[in-house]
Amino acid sequence: MIEKILVFGGKGGVGKSSISAATAVVLSDLLPNKKILILSFDIAHNLSDLFACEIGKEITPLRTNLWAIEPDPNEYAEHYTKNLIEKMKQLMKEMPVIGKLPQIEKQIDEMFTSESIPLALKNAMFFQQILDAEKSDSSEIQFDLIIADFPPTGNMVALFEIPEDQAKVMLKYSLNFYNSIKDAIRKFSKVVRQLIRPFDNIEKRKELGKEIFDMMVELEKRGERITELIHSVGSLRLVTIAEKPSFEEIKRARDLTKKYITLEGAHINMLIPKEHAKKCDFCGNVSSIQQKYVYDIRNEFQSLKIWESDRLQEEPIGLEGLRKLGKEIYGDTSADGILNPHP
Ligand SMILES: Nc1ncnc2c1ncn2[C@@H]1O[C@H](COP(=O)(O)OP(=O)(O)OP(=O)(O)O)[C@@H](O)[C@H]1O
Ligand SMILES: [Mg+2]
Repeated sequence: MIEKILVFGGKGGVGKSSISAATAVVLSDLLPNKKILILSFDIAHNLSDLFACEIGKEITPLRTNLWAIEPDPNEYAEHYTKNLIEKMKQLMKEMPVIGKLPQIEKQIDEMFTSESIPLALKNAMFFQQILDAEKSDSSEIQFDLIIADFPPTGNMVALFEIPEDQAKVMLKYSLNFYNSIKDAIRKFSKVVRQLIRPFDNIEKRKELGKEIFDMMVELEKRGERITELIHSVGSLRLVTIAEKPSFEEIKRARDLTKKYITLEGAHINMLIPKEHAKKCDFCGNVSSIQQKYVYDIRNEFQSLKIWESDRLQEEPIGLEGLRKLGKEIYGDTSADGILNPHP
């Protein structure tokens, strides 16, 4: 059973991916018996760079209790919509007028391809991956914890809106298609339609229609399950640096995501280490500006756990680098303190 889904959000470049990966490493050290999956929701994946190893579009083992995946939404969308698309094509081809036009057949085949799947639906596929991770099928790994590395705020909010709407998106997509071939149908006179009627297989069409309807219902159910899961075990952590733009952004992100997921913590990343602030004037000045923002951020997010992390001298890359960043962020905090933080 998935116990928790940690979601890291915030402005571009503030360290969301690094903190996601560092958190995954720390939790995998602290909880050897839990199965942890780190999942990239950003189409511009960079988990491979952070872990300094090849992470594929399939679930890739990193350690005995830690796995990672950088899903390919195109491939995933194709996999999930293949059946539906096949049925749609069949239905079109069974239509009394449309199905009999040779040029339409080609159009149908070209229209329903993975490239034609709306981006919104493709993005929903990242969430489908979470549902797969939840599956009780014994051949699959059952994950206890999921860590989701999200894209910057705007895309993050758009992502949260999708799961519940994916059936609607699919419907709209099919309707658009019907509209696009409507003109071709109009060109046929009533007479031609009457001539074709005896060859019309209404029963077959009804059956296909029912199958498509059932698939839409299934898609809708999956969407509802995702929303419910995010609602019940999702935990958002906003990442910022001690500067105005990213501070403003996490305030917006807090408001925009409120109805989807519980906000449980915030990270102030890349602070100038205190010992350096003392040593040079430049660092000292930057540091005192940062401390003003730290004060404001703590004040604004009083009810939340705030983690501060210094800027490390070396880029936090590879297992050791990420562990170092994890130590910098969480110190000796227990796994429970990380998973269920209190201010
Ligand atoms: N505490 C830190 N100390 C030193 N370097 C850091 C720290 N946190 C992040 N970095 C570095 O900052 C850069 C940006 O980090 P990262 O890619 O994690 O940000 P992001 O918020 O995920 O960016 P994007 O919005 O592009 O996804 C990387 O080069 C990363 O190694
Ligand atoms: Mg990132």
